[in-house]
Amino acid sequence: MPDRPVVVVSNRGPLSFTVADGALRTKRAGGGLVTALGAAVEGTGTLWVAGALSEADRMAAAKGAVEAEGFNVDLLALDDDDHRAYYDVISNGTLWFLHHGLWDTPRRPRFDRVWRDAWAAYRRVNQAFAAHVAERAPEGAVVLVQDYHLALMGEPLAEARPDLAAVHFHHTPFASADAFRVLPDDAGEELLRGLAAFRACGFHNARWAAAFEACCAEVLGRTPATFVTPAAADAGDISGVAAGDQCAAAGAELDEAVGDCRLIVRVDRIELSKNIVRGFLAFEDLLRTYPEWRERVVFGAFVYPSREGLAEYQAYRQEVEGVIERINAEWATPTWTPILYDPKDDFPRSVAALQRFDVLLVNPVRDGLNLVAKEGMIVNQRDGVLALSRESGVWAELGEVALGIHPFDVAGTADVLHRALSMSADERRTHADAVRERVSARTPVDWFDDQVSAAG
Ligand code: F6P
Repeated sequence: MPDRPVVVVSNRGPLSFTVADGALRTKRAGGGLVTALGAAVEGTGTLWVAGALSEADRMAAAKGAVEAEGFNVDLLALDDDDHRAYYDVISNGTLWFLHHGLWDTPRRPRFDRVWRDAWAAYRRVNQAFAAHVAERAPEGAVVLVQDYHLALMGEPLAEARPDLAAVHFHHTPFASADAFRVLPDDAGEELLRGLAAFRACGFHNARWAAAFEACCAEVLGRTPATFVTPAAADAGDISGVAAGDQCAAAGAELDEAVGDCRLIVRVDRIELSKNIVRGFLAFEDLLRTYPEWRERVVFGAFVYPSREGLAEYQAYRQEVEGVIERINAEWATPTWTPILYDPKDDFPRSVAALQRFDVLLVNPVRDGLNLVAKEGMIVNQRDGVLALSRESGVWAELGEVALGIHPFDVAGTADVLHRALSMSADERRTHADAVRERVSARTPVDWFDDQVSAAG
């Protein structure tokens, strides 16, 4: 661990609060950012500043820093309207779509006056985070600012506290210079200037760092410092969950549902970038093109709702559920249901599925990293095969040993599924060993230390 004090800052913190019987209770939050950082920070006393995302979180924020479950969390309460504009409209409705290439450009985006007000709210929220950190950070601390929600914190923080060394880390891809031109000129320039105000900007993959540098070269005429360090899975934590009773119970249920069929698994938020619909269409193509798999394979889709404040996510969920219903209606037999769909956000259940897959399908259209690919290979007990999108950030680490997926090629994905399902036990063992070796080469602490070192 570093010898300087460290402060972590993110929109979502490691704990969320609820009120039960008039008392505040804590619950561990999920998601890639929190999982990867949490593993390195837990038990170290590191101050973690995060947004208050619910009414109970706001009650916790009023108490100041809270120590619970190994974390020292200080939540920032935000004005409701500002928070909605910052989180829904700009962070998730604009920057997420921009960096993942999710826009349907003949129709969206539309940068109208309402959007400009939301951009001003995004700026205000970033300033509020900067002021909050400036008040609390120990002298000379390294500040690790996480993700696209907080791109504009660097400048106000450096002004208020020149003694701090702040770096920024994106958990997403970064838009190419061409894609970036979709943002209004003033907002695009402000965003890049904001990021350039950090000591350095970090990414999970060299492609995303190069894209950021290209955007800066074009818009700012200079290239800020960058660094590349992919997050690592927390092997200890996930293996602990895998050994627990809840996971065993979920596993028994799953075994009964799957019977002696082979199992393809995916574990994702219901998220446009995850390419869930094409994954099901590829599975249907597998059943059509390779009939020997009918009644012999089940697709376990452990996908759970996310960001339901956005109309696009609600519509995508409907699309996902519609395609599952249609495929099951068309292909099911009296003794076999091709797709097992469970939209519960239930981590032990997801881990039970990851222990049992024959094939893990990770086919995002674009993804900053994808920690599920790493976690899945750590806990899997069947020498399962990783079918991995070339557009995921983790491809740089695992692409040489995984089975590659072109995420837009539905027929090609079906062929890869067939190939994965057809591999011999020896081939599977060699494949799984090679992936596991790479996955366990780094720890969350390595990743955390790389961020601290980047602060200089
Ligand atoms: O990929 C970026 C990321 O922050 C992930 O680390 C995380 O799993 C996901 O987005 C969660 O998003 P939200 O906080 O909006 O639920």
